[in-house]
Amino acid sequence: MSSSSAIQAVRGMNDVLPDEIAYWQHIETIWRRLMTQYAYQEIRFPLVEAASLFQRSVGETSDIVEKETYTFADRNGDLLTLRPEGTAVCVRALVQHSVLQQQPVQRLWYMGPMFRHERPQKGRYRQFHQLGLEAFGMHGAAIEAEILLLTTRLWQELGLSALFKLQINSLGTPGTRAAYRAALVAYFTQHHAQLDEDSQRRLDKNPLRILDSKNPAMTAVLQNVPQMTDYLDEVARAQLNQLCAYLDKAGIAYEINSRLVRGLDYYTGLVFEWVTEHLGAQATVCGGGRYDNLVAELGGPASEAVGFSIGMERLILLLQAQQNLSSPVPDVYLLNVGELAEQNALKLAEDLRLALPDLSLLVHCGGGGFKSQFKKADKSGAKIALILGDDEAKQTTVTVKYLREEREQVTVPQYEMVEFFKKELGLRIED
Ligand code: HAM
Repeated sequence: MSSSSAIQAVRGMNDVLPDEIAYWQHIETIWRRLMTQYAYQEIRFPLVEAASLFQRSVGETSDIVEKETYTFADRNGDLLTLRPEGTAVCVRALVQHSVLQQQPVQRLWYMGPMFRHERPQKGRYRQFHQLGLEAFGMHGAAIEAEILLLTTRLWQELGLSALFKLQINSLGTPGTRAAYRAALVAYFTQHHAQLDEDSQRRLDKNPLRILDSKNPAMTAVLQNVPQMTDYLDEVARAQLNQLCAYLDKAGIAYEINSRLVRGLDYYTGLVFEWVTEHLGAQATVCGGGRYDNLVAELGGPASEAVGFSIGMERLILLLQAQQNLSSPVPDVYLLNVGELAEQNALKLAEDLRLALPDLSLLVHCGGGGFKSQFKKADKSGAKIALILGDDEAKQTTVTVKYLREEREQVTVPQYEMVEFFKKELGLRIED
């Protein structure tokens, strides 16, 4: 590579340019509104954590920790990891600040980039973004149902409901999981020759994860595995039934998939995924479940917990295929030509923005004559050009020219501009 060649973004890490931003903002706006409606509070935490956090929570034998984390020693030699997910970090933050001791019931949400060194393809990146929520201190199926109702609402508000299917499963209690694990080990040992290399390695450490295998060569052996749902105890079965009753009542369709195990070690009880057929191999847009032991495992008080995360890029791919959102354009482009006009333009713009908080007003900067400024005004997409030449500046007026309609231009005194825009653009005036 020659020293003058342009530097590229790191593979699998995307820029989001302005022509795409409307999709992000649309989702974020709806998400924030829903979070307020359901009374969840935002939490923010660092991008970088001690590497040991994810080893202890996501799991040492998970794909994420085994193969995908960005882990490095910093200048002090401390081993750090770019967060591959938010749940463990959220719990670390709550434990560190003793939040659950003070207020055991918490409903929290977060949004931001996560990092996994996966092989990039459509819908799978090395820096991606999650919307997530975590609810603490509540047992029973009601909170599980709440977060599934909430996701259903999100799909509805985005116009994507028809694209999703909900799959649920229960991983049971530690006791039933051990019994199921034993049955799986027995089964897979019997069929050892049919296991791929990854699965043979997992047989000792984490046989449940074999169920997660996406290798087509494993399909046959996975067809007849013992079913997790046959091993559930009364409590876990009752809770799953209760959740199903809530979902039935709410009219939310679901499928019980007893091979759904999820790729992270901290789950207990419910696990679920919202999947779609419209994204090829990257079918899961939202995944989550219960993790009742994680808070205590990371040094906090015993606390039940349940949550999920949504991959924003995957949601955006679906949204883009459904609707065309264009990036916002300014309402008004303020042209200014001449020394006096240039001086007045910024002040006039400040006054207008102060009085009209919803007005989007672009002030031309950088000089140039009327002709070149008009070209830029037109290109900006603005509905209205406000013209401030030296004549207007002297007379404290502005000339209004309609860029998208066949209408006569008008000259308006500057002190009437607020009223003018209120009427013309239907804007509210700040009290
Ligand atoms: P996860 O299944 O690892 O769960 O990730 C959740 C979602 O993030 C996936 O369903 C997918 O949409 C998105 N995602 C994951 N990896 C990538 C990638 N490389 N590129 C693009 N999108 C990706 C978790 O992260 C758990 N923390 C979820 C959770 C929260 N469980 C309980 N609370």
